[in-house]
Amino acid sequence: MKNPKKTIHLIAAARPNFMKIAPLCHALEARDWADPAIVHTGQHYDFNMSDSFFADLNITAPRYHLGIGSGTHAEQTGQVMIKYEKVLLERRPDIVVVVGDVNSTVAATLAAVKLGIKVAHLEAGLRSFDRAMPEEINRVVTDSIADLLWTPSPDANENLEREGIPAHRIKRVGNIMIDSLENMRGKIEDAGTFRNFKLSPGGYGIVTIHRPSNVDNPAELERICRMVAEVSKKIGLIFPVHPRTRKAIEQQSLLALLEKAKGLILTTPQTYINFMSLMFSSALVITDSGGIQEETTYLGVPCLTMRQNTERPITVTHGTNRLCDVADVPGLVDAILSGARRPAQKIDLWDGKTAERVVENLRSHLF
Ligand code: UD1
Repeated sequence: MKNPKKTIHLIAAARPNFMKIAPLCHALEARDWADPAIVHTGQHYDFNMSDSFFADLNITAPRYHLGIGSGTHAEQTGQVMIKYEKVLLERRPDIVVVVGDVNSTVAATLAAVKLGIKVAHLEAGLRSFDRAMPEEINRVVTDSIADLLWTPSPDANENLEREGIPAHRIKRVGNIMIDSLENMRGKIEDAGTFRNFKLSPGGYGIVTIHRPSNVDNPAELERICRMVAEVSKKIGLIFPVHPRTRKAIEQQSLLALLEKAKGLILTTPQTYINFMSLMFSSALVITDSGGIQEETTYLGVPCLTMRQNTERPITVTHGTNRLCDVADVPGLVDAILSGARRPAQKIDLWDGKTAERVVENLRSHLF
């Protein structure tokens, strides 16, 4: 018998995807017309990079798991296309929702669009204008072929319009990650993760690095490690190390340099609740992440982003984010510690209600 509900595939692949699909999955599960099914491509597979997010965010287990694992860009993209196409051919969904900008996002989009299945992209329109970033290629390709483009901010709408995408395909819905943060606020506030590391609230900074431009470039990685050791003399730092970064640090024998730094805590990637709890109580964040630029802006935590560009310019113009070179970080940390903080402005539609807007828009396209 044909399923009377609309089947909606939610593609989840890598760490930054899970907090984007969780609120949408919950909102769809509450609708009698929707049958949401999570498709996990398996791009991230370590417990702390994947399963722990399903536990923390109360997400139902994936209906399909493609198990693609790590690989080169072509291997990852190709494997997702081949394996996801089989799922699509077996049981055709009414629509596929992809999020963010990882390799699985573009791969699932290509597989579905070529079978004539509608695709909606959540977090569409972001542009760093830097084609050396793998994510930029993924964003441009996904947005150019997806049917529905849900954006987080006005700059994203402008980018899409400039690329000639018709207005009826674009809808500004807000920032879905803020929904996860607000849904989990109680647990985050109760976690007090700083205590596990003997840190005091407001008395430490967080470091995260994983971008290939920083990690896979030996000279750059060494500069970053030296800078982190130096900054840890000014303020205690906690550095949850991404698997890509850990490998590179070990290969370049930089671990001893970091372990010697007394004010620095090196740890494993944190679960969602623990990481957000650390961020809630932190004095500052030093990062090259995309999503962290947004979360710190929302929370009003100063963020130093070691990149030359950002696909999230609103965090710089309206938020607490600042792009910088590695060499500038110690001076900027001094300034933050002596009170130079920019208050964040409230950003329109970053309000914890994005999933509801997405579901309403989805419904109007499905019926
Ligand atoms: C990917 C995304 C990036 C996102 C990041 C968040 C792409 C092109 N990149 O980068 O946009 O910001 O996720 O983390 O899609 N590894 C493990 N365990 C895991 C996952 C990865 O050990 O669970 C190791 C493997 O050695 C792998 C390396 O990390 O080769 C990189 O993983 P990969 O998924 O290719 O890219 P990320 O750097 O995580």
